[in-house]
Amino acid sequence: MEEKLNKIKQEALEIINSSKILDEIEDIRVRILGRKGMLTEILRSLGQLTPELRNTIGKKSNEIKKIIEDALDAKKDELTKSGFSEIASSEWIDVTLNPAVSARERKGGYLHPLSKTQYEIEDILTSMGFQILDGPEAETEYYNFEALNVPKFHPARDMQDTFWTEDGNLLRTHTSAIQIRGMEKMTPPFRIMAPGRVFRYEATDASHEHTFYQVEGMMVGEDISVSHLIYIMEEVLTGIFKKEVKVRLRPGYFPFVEPGFELDFSCLICGGAGCRVCKQSGWIEFLGCGLVHPNTLRAGNIDPDKWSGFAFGMGLNRLIMMQAGINDIRHFMSGDIRFVQQF
Ligand code: DAH
Repeated sequence: MEEKLNKIKQEALEIINSSKILDEIEDIRVRILGRKGMLTEILRSLGQLTPELRNTIGKKSNEIKKIIEDALDAKKDELTKSGFSEIASSEWIDVTLNPAVSARERKGGYLHPLSKTQYEIEDILTSMGFQILDGPEAETEYYNFEALNVPKFHPARDMQDTFWTEDGNLLRTHTSAIQIRGMEKMTPPFRIMAPGRVFRYEATDASHEHTFYQVEGMMVGEDISVSHLIYIMEEVLTGIFKKEVKVRLRPGYFPFVEPGFELDFSCLICGGAGCRVCKQSGWIEFLGCGLVHPNTLRAGNIDPDKWSGFAFGMGLNRLIMMQAGINDIRHFMSGDIRFVQQF
């Protein structure tokens, strides 16, 4: 009988000690001390023993019961405490932590590099008094070509392959169309700019895309000359690159300006010494510009004998490609979020 008691004690303590879950403790208590528990059965059978034995075994049983109860209480205590500390460490949050820097960072949206650069140029030009204009992407032949001194059958139409619509309109091939719309509405002197999406009917490759972005600029006033143009272009480029940039003009042909120029700026990578980006020339081709052709002014109801002006049109994609070292223009419209995230 005594042996049996010792065995129960040993087994009970083993079970209790190996328990790791708080909910188990009550089950164990029932299994040992409950109405049908191991120890209870022994206590119940005491009546069948001799008075002497009943005395010693009874005493021993109660001792063991006490030991088991204490062990159960101690274990319960231990598991309760460790349970709390586990919750405290796993569910702990620092309410003062800025979510922007926490491990579970909330992702915000990204501005597309084209938008970013467009807004930057808008800021620079509006700071110099340029007003922002908008125009339709689906244009008439008149605004896109004729009013810009490119009549029907003029060879210059071949310079810009065009998407024609079935009703004889087109997708604008350049933001220059907005010059005419602007002049119709404004009275000189004025300064306007027009950012926008333009379209060319081209086979695409690393440097050609059917859809790209331009910013048009125009200043009309009394005695506006090439020096105004150079000054404004240097200001814009210095604003974009945040360091001093030099420009140079080469003759260029655009029907809506006379004289027309290709404007280059000094290569910022090599400082003008010659490198891969500027093809060893020290200069980067940037945009088309010139003094507004009298025919163009007339189309905008402006008297060329009284007013003169300059205009320019720059490609945003090319500017960003040069700035960020992007070697394929098709990335811009790829919709690949990884491209946008790099900016
Ligand atoms: N529209 C021309 C193009 O897309 C660029 C251009 C050249 C704009 C000369 C101008 C300009 O305003 O004066 O190629």
